[in-house]
Amino acid sequence: MWKEKDFLGLKDVPFAVIENILDSAAEMKRAFLASERKTSCAGKAVVTLFYENSTRTRASFELAAKALSANAMNLAVATSSVAKGESLIDNGKTLDALQARIVVIRHSVAGAPHLLAKNMAAGVINAGDGMNEHPTQALLDMFTIREKFGGFKGLKVLIAGDIKHSRVARSNIYGLRAAGAEITVCAPATLMPAGIERFGVRVVRTLREGAAGADVLMALRLQLERQKSGMFPSAAEYNRFYNLNGEIAALAKSGAIVMHPGPINRGLEISGALADGNSSVITGQVTNGVAVRMALLEMLLAK
Ligand code: CP
Repeated sequence: MWKEKDFLGLKDVPFAVIENILDSAAEMKRAFLASERKTSCAGKAVVTLFYENSTRTRASFELAAKALSANAMNLAVATSSVAKGESLIDNGKTLDALQARIVVIRHSVAGAPHLLAKNMAAGVINAGDGMNEHPTQALLDMFTIREKFGGFKGLKVLIAGDIKHSRVARSNIYGLRAAGAEITVCAPATLMPAGIERFGVRVVRTLREGAAGADVLMALRLQLERQKSGMFPSAAEYNRFYNLNGEIAALAKSGAIVMHPGPINRGLEISGALADGNSSVITGQVTNGVAVRMALLEMLLAK
């Protein structure tokens, strides 16, 4: 069903492909939680190549590769020959020579995974590129939503916070729209990309408006590291208007879930009480990350 060697984003990925990955992830989750090792990728080299920091994505790709009996290896960029000036493309050629079958890359520059994919024989998975996409985060978010609601058609999903800098928002909009969910986005004007309506989402300015009647409340991390100048007056101001808390969550449907891709700025974009509360599925998202990454690695390595 998936003919490409790479998986670089959810834009233009047919929903049937996404559904296939989510179906496979259900069995992967069962095996992972039972500490059962699968052998479908035995001996194949999976390299994680992270030019940006990560806890969840890198750790879960490594665990996923090991759970499939692949040879998982992390190339520590800071102590590699990148520090001597080796280019991304030369890095790719070196990893090809080392018989890497899959390279999982995170990079601060949008399009870096696409450049690497064009210049190496191994398959490339995008683990987050600049402000472009983070497709496996959206897959694990979709898996978590489907576990809770059984499907996506007509589900009301609020994505709130730093939409402008969020690759998570972009990938979720592509995936959830293809699945038939209704998406509302909420951010201060300075953190809302111009023309976002073109993506088929509803735009609101207040959290109250966005949370009313929602099934899913997804808060995004305020990406302070990508902001060149202040895009809101102060943290206190941001907290006052854009902090997802219990009072706002009470406006959502009964049984609504609270999500966050992590890492969390507690008390800035989400209250600690809500993040740790009964409606939160945030730690479940992390576990599900291993399952969907196992499914994706197996799909690509089956070729
Ligand atoms: N959600 C996410 O990408 O987290 P990490 O930066 O820890 O990988």
